[in-house]
Amino acid sequence: MRKSANIILGASVALLLGSLLAIPSQAQIPGAVPDAKVCKDKDNPPKDAVTQGGCIVLERTKGNCMACHAIAGTTAGNIAPPLVQMKQRFPDKTKLRAQIDDARKLNPRSVMPPFGPNEILSQDEIDKVVEFVLTL
Ligand code: HEC
Repeated sequence: MRKSANIILGASVALLLGSLLAIPSQAQIPGAVPDAKVCKDKDNPPKDAVTQGGCIVLERTKGNCMACHAIAGTTAGNIAPPLVQMKQRFPDKTKLRAQIDDARKLNPRSVMPPFGPNEILSQDEIDKVVEFVLTL
């Protein structure tokens, strides 16, 4: 009796986990990067700043932030702190923006690229990245 109850419990936990992990192909999951298809849709490009910022983060010739950082929805980088609970950890948006614009201001020896001064990202792109990062 107990054994079969355990089997049923195990199966329902597996089903629940399966449905939680199933990633819808179009929609953006809050707290994770947008789906690559959403970013590449030229006929209907994302219009909101958060999704645009997420696409900039993902773009290898732009942010490529996951090369160093663990970011939900990407294969984890692990040479830099994971980008999690950003709103709690960066209540001051200007500090977060400064880190992304020019990490050298906070750590002169940072290996994080100075995205702003080196014009890897435009100021407008940095603003959008900040909006996205705050959703993580
Ligand atoms: C070459 C590796 C590298 C890349 C690429 C990179 N970072 Fe970083 N990042 C770091 C390191 C290392 C730190 C730790 C602090 C420091 O040394 O500046 C850091 C720190 C941060 C922090 C502060 C995290 C904390 O917990 O205090 C944020 C936010 C951040 N990076 C965002 C980004 C974003 C957004 C991108 C992409 C636009 C990015 N990083 C790309 C290496 C990188």
